[in-house]
Amino acid sequence: MDFTDKTIWITGASSGIGRAVALELSQFNTRLILSGRNAEELNKVAEKCNKNGCSIRVVTFDLQDEKSITAAADKVLGSERQIDCLYQFGGISQRSFVTDTPLHVDRKIFEVNFFGTVALTKAVLPFMIKNGGGHLAATSSIVGKFGFPYRSAYSASKHALHGFFESLRAENASNNIRVSMIIPGRIKTNISVNALDKNGNKHGKMDEGQEKGMSAEASAKAICRKLEKEKKEILVGGKDLLMIYIRRFFPFLYYHLSSKVKPL
Ligand SMILES: NC(=O)c1ccc[n+]([C@@H]2O[C@H](COP(=O)([O-])OP(=O)(O)OC[C@H]3O[C@@H](n4cnc5c(N)ncnc54)[C@H](OP(=O)(O)O)[C@@H]3O)[C@@H](O)[C@H]2O)c1
Repeated sequence: MDFTDKTIWITGASSGIGRAVALELSQFNTRLILSGRNAEELNKVAEKCNKNGCSIRVVTFDLQDEKSITAAADKVLGSERQIDCLYQFGGISQRSFVTDTPLHVDRKIFEVNFFGTVALTKAVLPFMIKNGGGHLAATSSIVGKFGFPYRSAYSASKHALHGFFESLRAENASNNIRVSMIIPGRIKTNISVNALDKNGNKHGKMDEGQEKGMSAEASAKAICRKLEKEKKEILVGGKDLLMIYIRRFFPFLYYHLSSKVKPL
């Protein structure tokens, strides 16, 4: 796929990986729709993208609020000719033990990461199909491929995205709908700062591992190269990606290593 002249809707565009992907894609002659909750940050990203000569629209909504998602989709689909690509990065992580975490915090993580992503996809998919097809990308995580301590609901919500989008891909191959799952390892963003603690409040700390992660800019370059090729799975990160292969080929080693992870 060539990004030139495409209309690309990016969620999670106010920060981290989504922001870096928006800036990367703005170097092509594209039309970008940037979404998240934080209008001020989105406008700053829009201004930078604009300098690259790209046409920009900012649309805010809360992934936790279905009504705000459908209202945003109605607004966008009512005035755009086509959405060629819907690239979803919006998400929230977790730092809490299963035994300490009340169900409402698990539900909040699922609402944002899974149901919010699904709601926007369902709003956009019929429009894409009607217009001849499109490219969907959803952002999972390496912990969408295996469980990880202190991330129980986060890991589960990312596993759920794989099941949903693999099914969607199979159902819609004949509708020219292509699906990419983005699977980042540790990327240096505010994901740990914004993660929910056991009370559903911001964790508020940059984790040591996160601090040492790949830069958002480098990850965005790698992601965009693979989005362009419409890869079905886009792994991006450093040595941490090895754990996916350890889990698959040496499960006994994964069970041992994962039980030794220290709480943050
Ligand atoms: N960084 C990593 O190491 C890593 C690893 C694996 C997977 N990921 C995934 O990568 C994606 C991007 O994360 P990031 O690292 O870039 O973190 P980030 O800097 O915290 O960015 C998260 C983005 O999600 C948006 N978001 C969060 N809650 C939202 C809500 N309720 N409604 C609408 N938008 C919401 C935020 O926008 P607003 O605040 O404007 O709403 C922000 O743009 C996430 O799905 C994350 O799970 C990250």
